[in-house]
Amino acid sequence: MKIGIGNDHSALELKAEIIEHLKEKGHEVVDFGTNSPESCDYPVYGEAVARAVVSGEVEQGILICGTGLGISLAANKVKGIRAAVCSEPFTAKMARAHNNCNILAFGARVVGAELAKMIVDTWLETEFEGGRHQRRVDMIMAIEDKED
Ligand code: RB5
Repeated sequence: MKIGIGNDHSALELKAEIIEHLKEKGHEVVDFGTNSPESCDYPVYGEAVARAVVSGEVEQGILICGTGLGISLAANKVKGIRAAVCSEPFTAKMARAHNNCNILAFGARVVGAELAKMIVDTWLETEFEGGRHQRRVDMIMAIEDKED
């Protein structure tokens, strides 16, 4: 799978581990930065990955900041994005199976590298179940249209 990844300064080390892990599993990774330890603004990277997902440049996105919150909030402002903060595998599984989320977010100050890898693996292995969940996802996305 082609996966876009983005992060702020708090997540450089964790991102490197996740990229290595994804490549070992045979995924293609597009890195949208940051790759500097300088303090930066996470909305820049959240938006970049979100736009790559919506355009189809990548199939899924992974975002990492200190908590996963700010960067996912930014991504969720892009039409078509459903980004979920997941700090353990059960939520990651449900975010795919029931909510058909297209961006996984987590916090480098919240989860360690091994837990983060489990979260990522669960996310990528889980398919959307469709059915009644499709109706609810459609209802979520219809809220965006009311904002136009
Ligand atoms: C940066 O200090 C921190 O605010 C950011 O990484 C993130 O946790 C915001 O939600």
